[in-house]
Amino acid sequence: MDSLLAMEATDQWSSELDIDWRLPICYPFWFRRRTYIKVISQFYHGERATQRVCQKLLSMIDDPQARAFITHQLAEEQKHEMVFARYVHRMGEIAPMEPAMEKALEGSLAWTGHPIGLIVSFHIIFEGGAVLLLDRLVRRFPCPLFRSLNAKIIADEARHIAFGKKYVRDHVAELSDLERRAIFSHVAKLWLDCAKAAESRYSWPVALVTRLGANWLAENWQRQRRQLITNGLISLSEANEIEKKLI
Ligand SMILES: [Fe+2]
Ligand SMILES: [Fe+2]
Repeated sequence: MDSLLAMEATDQWSSELDIDWRLPICYPFWFRRRTYIKVISQFYHGERATQRVCQKLLSMIDDPQARAFITHQLAEEQKHEMVFARYVHRMGEIAPMEPAMEKALEGSLAWTGHPIGLIVSFHIIFEGGAVLLLDRLVRRFPCPLFRSLNAKIIADEARHIAFGKKYVRDHVAELSDLERRAIFSHVAKLWLDCAKAAESRYSWPVALVTRLGANWLAENWQRQRRQLITNGLISLSEANEIEKKLI
């Protein structure tokens, strides 16, 4: 935790000075402007949802080091929101949040048990998934400005994910078996439902652009689920058994 706090202190950047806002916006020629705005707007909404989680965690967690990290994280998420808003506003208005994502995020935020339930959903699953997606988009989108701002944002997000994993490892022993399984079941249901909804609507044009299959959210879940096993929230056999009941 000391090294995460030290990294937090040294990784600071300014949205004004460290991003070259004079760079042009180039969106892919196979995209309509409206579609591109819709995709980027989802990151803007994600940043806002993550701020609500940080605020909720600060009302639940007493540990001073974790509180220091989350307080700083909250400021970073506000900066990310500003950066995505400024980027989208160069092209038009922010588009609404995708209903499938909104349902998963609101469902995650509604968790009232141990803070690990929030951290698993947001720091590991949501932020983990967002970083993977941003990384792919940066490679596929020809936009120098998008590349420049994401280089900064991805570094922050990687630190948030590292905090989430560490928090789970350090605090999982506080949970009863019942609570551990309840947390896994809660997040698995939300994110599997989200994957199913996105797949059936196939409304996320990003799936086409990134050449990820229609089931990319389901694949993403498999990746994040491995993290939950590695970091001690759940065993492989428990995860299989719980998911079987959900599907
Ligand atoms: Fe963020
Ligand atoms: Fe974050």
